[in-house]
Amino acid sequence: MTTANLQASGLRFSPEAGYLSGMPTRAWFSTFIYHEPLLCAGQARFNTELAAECRNLRDYDAAGRRWSAKNYPGGYTSYASLNQLHKFSSTFAGLERKLTAHVRRFAAQLDMDLRGRTIAMTDFWVNIMPEHAAHSLHLHPLSFLSGTYYVSTPRGCPGLKFEDPRLSKFMAAPPKTTGVRPANQPHITYPAKAGHVILFESWLRHEVAANRIMTARISLSFNYNWS
Ligand SMILES: [Fe+2]
Repeated sequence: MTTANLQASGLRFSPEAGYLSGMPTRAWFSTFIYHEPLLCAGQARFNTELAAECRNLRDYDAAGRRWSAKNYPGGYTSYASLNQLHKFSSTFAGLERKLTAHVRRFAAQLDMDLRGRTIAMTDFWVNIMPEHAAHSLHLHPLSFLSGTYYVSTPRGCPGLKFEDPRLSKFMAAPPKTTGVRPANQPHITYPAKAGHVILFESWLRHEVAANRIMTARISLSFNYNWS
């Protein structure tokens, strides 16, 4: 049934579909975030080996460590050095195939028409965040969908915090009520969960707060583009 038909029928949408329960107000222009396990099971051992591979990359990547010292204080990222890992490592190439299936599913949920078009992973890099390392608010230019796969997420490590993309337009808005509905929150933080993939549109700003525990948080980030 189409939206117009539903309205004509007098039926109410569920709150999840956009209507506020019992109210004449409906949500539009939604922002979607995708969060799923990469696979159904069997990721723990794979992630242990993957974490070791990430540490090896850091030890090998002198240029990346130098770049990180200036731009990623306290942590290591291969963002500016080894940033197409799917083209150089069979482990990462295998991950790319699995991630692409999730990206296609997310794109379908966004009603993106990719028939006759191709999507491709353009960047794939490692992030290692020891104690005190943080990643300030940013977005992912030159791509349409981006995401992160979590490799090692020790208890208490920071999650991924997203910002309402309209925040800069709320010039005269009063504060939110204490019981603000999830859809009206100005921020949402997804806990980092090893074995899970999180996807978002590349323009959506996000950050990772400082890691307050002594164990490093390890993740892989990636971008996709289409043609
Ligand atoms: Fe990011």
